[in-house]
Amino acid sequence: MEVLIGSDAIQSRVREIGRQIARDHPAGVPLLIGVLRGCVIFMADLMKSLPIPHEIDFISVSSYEHSSQSSGTPRLVKDIGRDIAGRDVIIVEDIVDTGYTLEFLRRTFLARNPASLKTVALLDKRPRRECPVPIDYIGFEIPDRFVVGYGLDFAERFRHLPYVAALSPEELLPQPTARSVGAA
Ligand code: PRP
Repeated sequence: MEVLIGSDAIQSRVREIGRQIARDHPAGVPLLIGVLRGCVIFMADLMKSLPIPHEIDFISVSSYEHSSQSSGTPRLVKDIGRDIAGRDVIIVEDIVDTGYTLEFLRRTFLARNPASLKTVALLDKRPRRECPVPIDYIGFEIPDRFVVGYGLDFAERFRHLPYVAALSPEELLPQPTARSVGAA
């Protein structure tokens, strides 16, 4: 595992993004909508870095369905529980890869007539983009590597790491499960 972005660098960039969002919303109160589940740590840190009143909600979209290939047709798994008409909405993503998920969410929310719709992503894996999508606030651009940590997982592992790290091809091979170890 190779650390790509250390914890201190992430924290200071998130604080900057928080200040930038605050400057862009002088009248408050934006609604941050986090895209489960990868967003959770970024969302929590961004909230602490946002020095204006704001509200939060969460949405869940399925694009990858246990695969490393995007299906290209995201599906809404859990919707938000409120009306966003007239609200300043900011979609909070941990990573934008092909771009299909964020574009799907932009279309979904724009149809609900928000006052404004912005997007923030901690990581922008631009070399993999298939669907051009605007990102208003970007934490870091990253190369085409499989990254984990700070909310991002590999087979549900590594989300807790306070930094972003890249896994090597060997580390991406199927890992022994508790059952297969027990059976040996
Ligand atoms: C990741 C990430 C984005 C999406 C980006 O979620 O959080 O929502 O993939 O991919 P795209 O730009 O190619 O559409 P994932 O489906 O891995 O779910 P998770 O956040 O629950 O881990």
